[in-house]
Amino acid sequence: MKGVPRILAIESSCDETAAAVVENGETVLSSVVASQMATHGKYGGVVPELASREHLRAIVPVVREALERAAMKLADLDAIAATVGPGLVGSLLVGLTYAKSLSFASGVPLIGVNHIEGHIHAVILEAKTVEMPALALVVSGGHTHLFEVREGSRYRLLGKTRDDAAGEAYDKVAKLLGFAYPGGPIVDQLASFGNPRAVRFTFAKMKGNALDFSFSGLKTAVLRWVEAHDMEAEIEARRALRRENPSPTVDDWLAATPAATLDLLASFQHAVVNELLTRAAASAEQIDARSLIISGGVACNSGLREAAQSAGLPYPVYFPTPGLSTDNAAMIAAAAFPKLARREFAGFDALAQANLTLA
Ligand code: KG4
Ligand code: ZN
Repeated sequence: MKGVPRILAIESSCDETAAAVVENGETVLSSVVASQMATHGKYGGVVPELASREHLRAIVPVVREALERAAMKLADLDAIAATVGPGLVGSLLVGLTYAKSLSFASGVPLIGVNHIEGHIHAVILEAKTVEMPALALVVSGGHTHLFEVREGSRYRLLGKTRDDAAGEAYDKVAKLLGFAYPGGPIVDQLASFGNPRAVRFTFAKMKGNALDFSFSGLKTAVLRWVEAHDMEAEIEARRALRRENPSPTVDDWLAATPAATLDLLASFQHAVVNELLTRAAASAEQIDARSLIISGGVACNSGLREAAQSAGLPYPVYFPTPGLSTDNAAMIAAAAFPKLARREFAGFDALAQANLTLA
């Protein structure tokens, strides 16, 4: 160690190229995120080939900026961490290969980090102390997973989505209704203008693990509702808005969205939030959790935050600040910190693993 341990982390698992320098596992010296939203927006979702190309373009300047903002040189670091999975393999490879080459050139050891563990550590990084065992709900565009978290970075998977992730459901419903990608933030903002009880969505009873999720039925129910309500003209108007204006404001969207559609969005959000919290609370009860961690892009959702804070749960609920909820590298550095203490280094043969699991 070189005094206070410092980790440079690189995250490139999906459509964000990110780098951060974190000191002592808790002080973020810099955190840089280059988003590819403008590239993927017009396709209504992430295009893997374009994502890899954008990572290649961004990786060198993003890492350089993170080091400059932290006023660090490679020689000042104790470890270089990179996300090894899960994610898009072409995207992961860019960050991991660059981390390996920096490690090789500088002699600073390499640490491989699981992206999902990163999301959990986004909360631990900010909250400093989180009562264990904790129940972690990791909910993003790629994951909707429930984990038991114990001291010593021990995880046990309790439930997960069997089809779409919750963020994916948001993105698909938004796309279906003519909104821009990613749909989560827009639907969230518009939902507050609608009546959450206007449309009743029911979830099919699932066989097997009662803590698993399924969001594909909800997406289909929205599709049926759209088909039954003659919405083509308003959907086309929103598509036109998107084509003419690359970044519409909430007021622009509101002007293009009738009250009945706002009710639909509010009801959809209410159904998703209810589903997430019901299963998270049931899992927490099952493991006698002393806290609840909610992380990942969907943890930005205002409805989820309000419902979790006002549910009267018998343990504290922790959310990361929005910048640490969506993909970033500070959370990867935070997850790498205990591995540095255990000297759990990766070799140059470390692989990018698209389907890596946490437990
Ligand atoms: O964690 P993240 O940046 O990337 C993945 O690992 O997937 O999460 C992105 C996802 C997208 O599906 C996006 O629509 C969703 O998080 N999201 C939201 C909100 N902000 C982002 N979903 C609902 N409400 C939000 N406010
Ligand atoms: Zn993520």
